[in-house]
Amino acid sequence: MKISPSSFVEMKGDQLIPMLTAYTFPIAKSIEAAGIPIILVGDTVGMVEMGFSSTRYVTIEHMEYHVGAVRRGAPQTHIIGDLPYQTDRTPEVALINAKRLISAGADSIKLEGAKLDVITYLVANEISVVGHTGLTPQTAENFKKVGQTTDEAERVANDAKSIQEAGAFMIVLEHIPSVLALSITDELHIPTIGIGAGSDCDGQVLVINDVLGVGDYWPPFSKQYANLSQTAFNVSKEFASEVKSMKFPNNLVK
Ligand code: KIV
Repeated sequence: MKISPSSFVEMKGDQLIPMLTAYTFPIAKSIEAAGIPIILVGDTVGMVEMGFSSTRYVTIEHMEYHVGAVRRGAPQTHIIGDLPYQTDRTPEVALINAKRLISAGADSIKLEGAKLDVITYLVANEISVVGHTGLTPQTAENFKKVGQTTDEAERVANDAKSIQEAGAFMIVLEHIPSVLALSITDELHIPTIGIGAGSDCDGQVLVINDVLGVGDYWPPFSKQYANLSQTAFNVSKEFASEVKSMKFPNNLVK
């Protein structure tokens, strides 16, 4: 059964929230079957699936395509659609683009940074919003941990609080020190979902390609539960060899 934003808020302090990203129909289907309650169709799709060097190249059309595929695979799961770079540049533009992702199948949208006027406007227009602070890849100059100085930690903590006050029902904390994530988690009444933010958040999110071991770079804070790139390599080699030797399709047992 699909979980509503208010039910996610009620889960805080009661049960931890596992979240995965997904971009495709079959993977979304597996994630839903496994009982993961919330899927993020993140703009990471641009880097991990489309080969772009930055999420800044992702468009709203790309996101509509992937949100639609994930919705068809996971009809009963809460789906967050990520607003890509610059599609939230003003409250009005953000509302148009949020509605496009909702029409494509999202239940809520996520946006990066403390864009308080945008969040307030979206919430006033009945769009459920997930915030995102700490490392915000759309505008970051590098992928280093954020919040390691007192000033920066204070800025991230203040942003998290303001994002909650603007009306977000959940917030992603990306690549910040675990002590900072703990103090934000204690302070907020909405669930915090960590990625590279230690173990004291209300939930954890990982990028599906990282957990499956798809690709050739996985951040140190992620965990590879499989190595599907290696499997794809091995299968391709075996298939090529079987075609050349005429083993396949002659060995097809049906
Ligand atoms: O786009 C994304 O997948 C994200 C996660 C890394 C949190 O924002």
